[in-house]
Amino acid sequence: MKIAVLKESRENENRVALDPASCKKLIDAGMQISMETGAGTRAFFPDEDYQKAGVSIVSDGAKLLGDADFILKVNAPGLRPDGQHEADLMKPGAMLLASIFPTRNLEVVKKMAERKTTAFSTDCIPRTTRAQAMDTLSSQGNIVGYKGVLLGAVELPSYFPMFMTAAGTTFSAKVFVIGAGVAGLQAIATAKRLGASVTATDVRPEVKEQIESVGGKYIGIELQQNTQAGGGYAAELSVEDKARQAKMLADHCAQVDVVITTALIGGVFAPKLLDESIVKSMKPGSVIVDLGADGGGNCTLSKIGAITDVGGVKIIALTNLPSSLPHHASMMFSRNLLNFMVAFWKKDENRFDLDWSDDILKACVVTHDGQVMHGPTLKALQTHN
Ligand code: NAI
Repeated sequence: MKIAVLKESRENENRVALDPASCKKLIDAGMQISMETGAGTRAFFPDEDYQKAGVSIVSDGAKLLGDADFILKVNAPGLRPDGQHEADLMKPGAMLLASIFPTRNLEVVKKMAERKTTAFSTDCIPRTTRAQAMDTLSSQGNIVGYKGVLLGAVELPSYFPMFMTAAGTTFSAKVFVIGAGVAGLQAIATAKRLGASVTATDVRPEVKEQIESVGGKYIGIELQQNTQAGGGYAAELSVEDKARQAKMLADHCAQVDVVITTALIGGVFAPKLLDESIVKSMKPGSVIVDLGADGGGNCTLSKIGAITDVGGVKIIALTNLPSSLPHHASMMFSRNLLNFMVAFWKKDENRFDLDWSDDILKACVVTHDGQVMHGPTLKALQTHN
């Protein structure tokens, strides 16, 4: 089976879908891998390391794409530098594994269905123990939480740790993390490691213990509705609960130095939690790190993709933070893809086993045989024009 890995076409994307170590394992399992020249360079994996692992390096990316049985990518197919769409270049019936975020990329989904691509999206993999090693939302979310804290620390005009020096004492920065999933828990742990005093909140009641286990202090409100949407995901709050939460957020944000938001609904869309009045109540010099930026932002004043100053409060709403740590982000992403491929690979028969009774394949298949298979994407397409 011919596997292709391309240079990512998304703007400012530095990651690559496979690192040399994972390529070697897939080749040892009987697959053939070809990569576009320089695909790993921006993640600090040179072509020579891939060649040593047994990968063929090919300069014509469009041809590589057209010849492949299985394409491994970081992002959904997009426009290549020559203006051709990657989805149009894949041979009919080819398979694709990538973090597609299908409900955010409906036009691409339509193209893939037309092309009869069998596309699997790693961000739709179910939250089960067996699937954990394939879950790119987790591996990349960890990086988002870590990098978000570093960005906040750089913009804050004060230290994070407490220092007692001959020139005087500085007190620890107060950091407040909203949303304690994978990114939020890593943000709490990282801010703690830097010496901050950390509080955190979430709408899922079970996270209190998890927040405390990484050194944060839980701040919660009694919610009237059940906030579990299944699979570890949170449901959107009712109007009454939103108002109760807004009051708590307004009170607490005014007291802290750094607010880090990581809240997502269904792992995809960011609810608006911080409005203009909350931002204006914050101390000049304080910082908001909106880690929900890729999902539209948790703060109504966030300028997606930028760092702005609103009355002395810095709002950081940079997108695609995993790409800013491309070496480790690619290594982790690559392990996720490797684990997926190996789980369904029949070495003796030299084929990928499309076992549609398997809960992982069923959950993450986006398109197959000309049809859109992913339930939430089908629903989103019904209202999409
Ligand atoms: P996510 O990315 O969907 O959302 C981030 C966090 O925001 C969640 O904790 C969510 O409850 C919270 N949130 C949503 N709306 C909010 C609001 N209005 N106010 C405050 N917080 C809000 O979540 P993520 O990071 O994917 O993790 C969700 C859960 O799933 C976690 O418990 C995680 O440990 C679990 N998980 C399990 C996996 C597995 O078993 N294979 C893999 C990945 C995550």
